[in-house]
Amino acid sequence: MESKVHVILSLKRNKLFMLLCFSISAIPLGYVLHLERSLSDTHVYEYVSHGWFRDGAKWDDVDRRFLVSYLEGGVGEIKVGDDHGDVVEVEVEEERTVFRDPDLAGNSSMGLVIDRPRNRLLLVHADVIGNRFGALAAYDLSTWNRVFLTKLCGPGDGKSLADDVAVDGDGNAYVTDAKGSKIWKVGVNGDVISVITSPLFTHKGWYENLVALNGIVYHPNGFFLVVHTMSGALYKVDAKTEEVKLVKLVGGGSLRLSDGMVLVSERVVAVTGVPSGRMVESKDGWETAEVVGSYRGPAHRLATAVTIKDGKIYLGYMFGSYRFPKKWKHIIAQAVFQKN
Ligand SMILES: *[C@@H]1O[C@H](CO)[C@@H](O)[C@H](O)[C@H]1NC(C)=O
Repeated sequence: MESKVHVILSLKRNKLFMLLCFSISAIPLGYVLHLERSLSDTHVYEYVSHGWFRDGAKWDDVDRRFLVSYLEGGVGEIKVGDDHGDVVEVEVEEERTVFRDPDLAGNSSMGLVIDRPRNRLLLVHADVIGNRFGALAAYDLSTWNRVFLTKLCGPGDGKSLADDVAVDGDGNAYVTDAKGSKIWKVGVNGDVISVITSPLFTHKGWYENLVALNGIVYHPNGFFLVVHTMSGALYKVDAKTEEVKLVKLVGGGSLRLSDGMVLVSERVVAVTGVPSGRMVESKDGWETAEVVGSYRGPAHRLATAVTIKDGKIYLGYMFGSYRFPKKWKHIIAQAVFQKN
């Protein structure tokens, strides 16, 4: 059936993404129904939303809610009930907007990460269509007051798409540029500390760089891992020296079309994209790694976010389905990986 899904790479709109436009009409209805049905093996949160597109999703274990970022700008929360263990069911929740930053109107809210020791949310804002503006902001998780707003790029800086963010133990943030293929390091008070670049971040072939650096996670051993969407390259970057290394993928698996990433344990990360989920393991401190599992969720919804809730991996999907005027149904669903 894969061949019936025409993945067209749109040159311009990076994330709307990923520029993956599926020609839905070419997917037989039975296939779509099947994709939705396959979810029934996993735990699903459905939520009613006022937007068609959602990008990031992170579980907030203190306030028992998912925080989701809006492509139209803003952040919403989806409060969920108690954990139901392994009971397979669909829980319907409501999205509530917690803030829209008026100073960033017209931009999309992209990657987000909770900086727990400082009780704040780090959120990337970007001009997804024009690729002319990107910023990182921090917001207090209790009051939603903005702590800082740092401009990363503007109209004179060439094409950029600030995309995803990771945070280290000292509160430094690392923001990926999915267009310019670099990483901004922003200090705990919002000062831009450095811009990390490397020839390894650019690949041969125009299409290989359509969507560049994307998902990023900080590893407690002092480095971060970052994935390059189109090429599937995985990098290990030393947080202090900023040395960039390619993680050698062994075992034949690929990380092409990867998007968001989460650290599951010191040896394992989960990555979203196409397929919806992949699990990657390293046994040697991320010099080499292997794709050890995958999960095929509803492909027409496109998994862009990944987060851990109560020890389980949940994926956030970008495309909602139309419900009634100004309402869309979205899902955040548990991923159950099959061994590769
Ligand atoms: C994004 O926000 C910046 C800062 O306020 C603004 O200058 C820019 O015009 C916005 N971008 C769009 C596409 O509206």
